[in-house]
Amino acid sequence: MPLIPQIVAQTFVKQVEFHAEIGSTNDRALDLAAAEVSTETPLLIWALQQTAGRGRGANRWWASEGALTFSVMLETSELGLPQERWPQVSLTTGLAVCAALQELLPQAEIGLKWPNDVFLHGRKICGILVEIPPRQSGKLVVGIGINVNNSLTLAPAELWPTATALCDASNRTWDLAVVLIQVLQQLERHLIQLSANDPELPQRWHELCFLRGRLIHHTVGDRVTIGTCRGVDQQGALLLQTEAGLSRVLGGVITKWE
Ligand code: BTN
Repeated sequence: MPLIPQIVAQTFVKQVEFHAEIGSTNDRALDLAAAEVSTETPLLIWALQQTAGRGRGANRWWASEGALTFSVMLETSELGLPQERWPQVSLTTGLAVCAALQELLPQAEIGLKWPNDVFLHGRKICGILVEIPPRQSGKLVVGIGINVNNSLTLAPAELWPTATALCDASNRTWDLAVVLIQVLQQLERHLIQLSANDPELPQRWHELCFLRGRLIHHTVGDRVTIGTCRGVDQQGALLLQTEAGLSRVLGGVITKWE
């Protein structure tokens, strides 16, 4: 079966836009939403290579050829996903990627690093960037980057201790379409659970929390708070235990962990 019809037949995606190279798949999705171009949703924008991939905040997303980089534009009304649950889409997507990777590599040790990363054997394998197009359109853009065949041995040296790729963890290369279809199937399943307010989701993001029990540095601007992570609560807030007590963290970045 040719690739694009296979993706449409086997996942919830209704339309696919494929690029050999693009700046950023999230930017492309946001541009389409801004231009109010009529598209069938979920719309998949898949690129073999991004020249300006973006991460959370001011971060760039480094990925050489062989990475799986894509965005899915969702129409939340089609999914029955109320606005108060949109902040949980990032963790929910993270759980979907964890489930997909667990299917592909059953022995792997997979964790969810709050709020938008997936870790494999203690190193980042996937970053997630969920964005809301500026006009109140009811659309969400879910951007996912997974290191698949882009061996981290070819990455800048500073990434070696903290990042990994599926090929590095398994000593083989992967068919990107197989990984993509697995992630999309899990994404649909997990978004349905989020729409239904399924209590399994908060239970899973707490259980899979990579930071749980670790001493972490939480940074907002210049302010760093050091404490022990106690997991992630029902709403998706990180729980941070310091001498001052237990606090719920909703923003900022985790800059260090032990
Ligand atoms: C992060 O690590 O902070 C998130 C990284 C998200 C990267 C993906 S790759 C596909 C999509 N397009 C982008 O420009 N970013 C996301």
